[in-house]
Amino acid sequence: MAEQKATNITWHETTVTVEDREQLLNQKGCVVWFTGLSGSGKSTLANAVAHLLHERKHHTYVLDGDNVRHGLNKNLGFSPEDREENIRRVGEVAKLFVDAGTVVMTAFISPYRVDRDQARDLISENRFVEVYVECPLDVCEERDPKGLYEKARSGEIKEFTGISAPYEAPDKPEVVVNTAELSIYDSAQKVISFLEKTQLVPSDR
Ligand code: ADX
Repeated sequence: MAEQKATNITWHETTVTVEDREQLLNQKGCVVWFTGLSGSGKSTLANAVAHLLHERKHHTYVLDGDNVRHGLNKNLGFSPEDREENIRRVGEVAKLFVDAGTVVMTAFISPYRVDRDQARDLISENRFVEVYVECPLDVCEERDPKGLYEKARSGEIKEFTGISAPYEAPDKPEVVVNTAELSIYDSAQKVISFLEKTQLVPSDR
């Protein structure tokens, strides 16, 4: 849990409210939180869902682990403490996007259950959709799109998720997609069906 360091700070209500913004955008803000091993397809899937929703005139944004680590979180590595802080910040940023009325997709390994649950707790009930991007380790390793598993096996990269650092699969994710079995398009449709079923986005039929 991050310590509150600042004192003498006051919360300011905004003049334009989240309801105003959602009305303008004609949508509800929500978080679609993708979690899974490196190479499981989180980023690809998050972008596929964003693309399909964008075509349906929804405002979307993708927060991607590799990208956020180039900027906001460039001072964090892959120790358990740094991963916790990574996910804490991403949860807070996702909360701001929800407040802005955006459908925000997050694609982070987010290996620890407790950290993901903390992100969930920041977001209003039913506006946090956890998607477990399930894919066997051997398939991720076979794909090895960035050549990192090979480096992790040789010991060049330490604390690599699935090899030398843990991954805790979600207990009760809202959606599970197995990218070893489903195409990216079918996986994206499965996520969108859930968003429609729960009325986070209107059905296009
Ligand atoms: S998380 O564990 O803190 O959620 P995050 O999703 O931000 O991780 O970043 C994961 C990406 O960083 C991986 O897809 C991979 O490209 C890269 N990476 C570099 N080192 C590691 C490592 N030790 N463990 C996992 N991923 C790593």
